[in-house]
Order: sequence, then C-alpha cells, then structure tokens
Amino acid sequence: MVSLLPNLSSPISRLSLLWRPSLHFTIKSTTKLQFQLHEKAVKPQWFKSFSPYCSVSNLSMGQTQKQMLVENENLVVLGIETSCDDTAAAVVNSNGEILSQVISSQAELLARYGGVAPKMAEEAHALVIDQVVQEALDKANLTERDLTAVAVTIGPGLSLCLRIGVRKARKVAGSHNLPLVGVHHMEAHTLVARLVERELQFPFMALLVSGGHNLLILARDLGDYIQLGTTIDDAIGEAYDKTAKWLGLDMRRSGGPAVEELAREGDAKSVKFKVPMKQHKDCNFSYAGLKTQVRLAIEAKRINAEISLASASDEERQARADIAASFQRVAVLHLEEKCERAIEWALNIEPSINHLVVSGGVASNKYVRARLDEVVNRKGLKLVCPPPSLCTDNGVMVAWTGIEHFRLGRFDLPPPVNEPEDAVLDLRPRWPLGEEYAEGKSEARSMRTARMHPSLTSLIKASINFTNGSNLRGLVNKSAT
Ligand code: KG4
Ligand code: ZN
Repeated sequence: MVSLLPNLSSPISRLSLLWRPSLHFTIKSTTKLQFQLHEKAVKPQWFKSFSPYCSVSNLSMGQTQKQMLVENENLVVLGIETSCDDTAAAVVNSNGEILSQVISSQAELLARYGGVAPKMAEEAHALVIDQVVQEALDKANLTERDLTAVAVTIGPGLSLCLRIGVRKARKVAGSHNLPLVGVHHMEAHTLVARLVERELQFPFMALLVSGGHNLLILARDLGDYIQLGTTIDDAIGEAYDKTAKWLGLDMRRSGGPAVEELAREGDAKSVKFKVPMKQHKDCNFSYAGLKTQVRLAIEAKRINAEISLASASDEERQARADIAASFQRVAVLHLEEKCERAIEWALNIEPSINHLVVSGGVASNKYVRARLDEVVNRKGLKLVCPPPSLCTDNGVMVAWTGIEHFRLGRFDLPPPVNEPEDAVLDLRPRWPLGEEYAEGKSEARSMRTARMHPSLTSLIKASINFTNGSNLRGLVNKSAT
C-alpha cells in the first residue's frame, strides 16, 4: 500500500510494510571483499562530467582514483539507507532538487517488539528493498542509466541491516557501471542541512540526536569533524522510546512523537527528575539514569502499560502526561546545557561559526527545536533544522552526502558485475564521525571502543596526506615541466 505525504519539493512515498512472519530469507556467510581498481571501461558520460582541474588522489580505503572537482554539472544520485529500521531510497540532483523519496517503515514491528530487533529488521529490509529502490527511480521518472552514482549508508548502524542496503547499492552500481559512494549515516544527518539551507557554509556546529546517537560536533569542512561530545550510554531517542513503551503509548510512529504529543497535556514540573551530568563540565550526555528515573516514577504511580492510553481513566491519563512532560523537559534541558557549553568551545576553536544544525529523528520534535532555538539565539548563532521528513532517517540525506563527496572525487569505482552473494561487504557498524576534542575528554566517557572503526575524518585525512605525499606531487611536477 502506497500513500503520499507532503515534502519539501517532492512527495515522499511511504510503503507500509505488511509483515509476514512466515517469510524467511537465507543470509549466507560472507567472505572478504576487497575494493579493487577495475580496468574495464567506465561509462563515457561519467568521465565527461569531470572538470579539467582534476588531480590524482588516493580515496577512502586506500585505492588510487581520480580526484576531481565536479562543478557546474548536474549530478543525479540514488541514495539508499537501511542502517536501522527504515528502508529508504531517494533520487536527488546536485541542484538540491529531491526528485523522489520513498520510505518503508517498520513501525508495526517497532510497536510489536518495543524496539528494533536486528534479525526481524533485516528480514523486513530484504522484503522491500527492491520495491523501494524501484519506486524511487520510477517516481523520479528515471532509470539506472540516468544516474551519475549510487550512494549508500555503510555505517554506523546494525550490520545485518546495513548489509541489505549495501548489497542492493552494489548490485545497481555493478550492473550499470556506476561509481559508488559509501556514506556515514551521521554525516548524512548533518549534511542534509546544506541541501535545505544552501547558504550553510563550513565551519558550523551540529547537534545530532537520534535513537542511537547523541553527538555534538564541529564541522570544519566536508569530511573533517571534531567530536565535542557524545553519549556515555544511551541516546535521547532511546530514552523517548522507552518512556513511550513504559507509558503504554502507541509506538507505531516510534516512541518520540507519542511522548511529544502526550507531553502537551502534562505539567512538566510535576515530577522532579534530575538533569543528568550536571557536575561534568564537558559536552557529553547520559540518558540511562534518566530512563531509570522515569521507570521508577511509572512504577511508583502504578501505571499499567498493558492498558492503552485510549482506555486509561482521566486520572491515569493525566499521570502519564505529567511523566511524559516532566521527562521531556529534563531530557531537553540536558541537551540545552551541553549545547550551550559546546557552542563556547566551538567558538574558541573556530570563531567564524554562525550556525548550529540540529538533525536526527529527535530534531523533528517541536519542543526540542523551540528550546534549542533559544539557546542558539542567546549565543548569537542561527539554528538550522531540516524539516521533520529530512530529520528522521531518509534516502535524501544519503544521496545528498553522496553528491557532496562525489564532487570532491571521493567515491569508489563501480563494483564488479555479478558480485557473489556471499562477498564480505565493507560495513562499519561502529564508526565515529570525527576524533574526540582533546580538551573535552571526560572521565565519565565510557570506554566502549572495542571493534570501533577508524573515524571518517581520520580516513579522509589519511587519504589526503597520501595524495599530497605521492600522486599529487607527481602530477604537479608533471604540469610544471
Ligand atoms: O534518526 P532516526 O530516524 O533514526 C536513527 O538513526 O536512530 O531517529 C529515530 C529516533 C527514535 O528514537 C524516535 O523516537 C526519535 O528519533 N523521534 C523523536 C521524534 N520523532 C522521532 N523523538 C522525539 N520527538 C519526536 N517528534
Ligand atoms: Zn538516523
């Protein structure tokens, strides 16, 4: 069933996933896939679109490629996103026009299990991925042959889910000889603000608030990020989701919107929750303790989550609304306090900053936006907040990030046609965006760094250094003679 919802410049198509538990997908074990240079000819128009001011660069993963500044050309990129519970695809061009946007959400599954169950989510992605991508192309009135490149989220996220999107992207790119851009999910949440606000220049700050992340970053340049703060345990979206679940709210649109709605009926000062990490003079977050405070308050008021909100008595509804409002007030106060400090830090590092971007699913919350707008105004900055449809996970942000990197020549050559199904994919489930700000490190930081991928920023810097030290020197010498 397909329904249309309004969007910036094109309708979003939302596919409702009809969950059929009897359907099973065999996921084969995988073997290491190395990115290789393919000698085969690439699409003629692919080269045609490059500017003559090209240099030779080493790109992501250490392979040598042409780095080109692709300007004044209309690039058309398909973006695919499957890092968590939404299967999304979109086609965007380099003028910032959204040619199509399709999302299949796993809301029914979320409601049923009260959270994302990776195996179920993987099966749900596999069930709809072909349809979602096809619909994105159809709605844009394009075929694969019209695309310049394919962009896909490769991390961070759930490996099982990322794999479905990456496999699909490689299939499309491989069969149509298209370059591929591997996208960082949190960078995509950040950069979509540059599609919305075309004046947004680096450096700027960003607060990224979603189900799995709570990040304060300083974006110095494309692919160059400093992490000012992160969460030491849970993200704010997780706290919203659990609060919704324990309050017995309808989770079909995820927990956040349900809490936001009910909070409007409540007294935000009626339940005294403590603002987390007040004593830590850093920019890190913690939501695990607030979650526990909410659970205890719910238990103390003997709220039975088995009874839906619609069936609750007036008194019980008010009790739930008071908890929702009090939780939201404190959860957002925590954001406000850390944001205020982060802006001070960021202005010390880069005094020319003018904007704070707020993005990620929780940024679609009106109360969050209003409170952060006040903080940002007090500090003399401007808030940039994408529309809700671009704050929650979507394919547009992936396509746009693909365009931004592609323009700088950061992409992989087309994958082989008929790549084996069991090829090991380059997935980065735990992948920081940037290096931690040295002066901002806190003792309260969790030490969960095991199996962490090197940050996007460090990989890009390493590739640029490599380029400057070898290939580029050769090119410069050659052009000097
Ligand atoms: O960015 P996103 O769509 O997916 C992740 O990358 O996690 O964020 C999803 C999170 C969920 O926790 C959801 O409850 C939260 O964003 N969220 C909201 C709202 N809309 C979505 N939280 C608070 N208020 C909202 N209106
Ligand atoms: Zn997200």
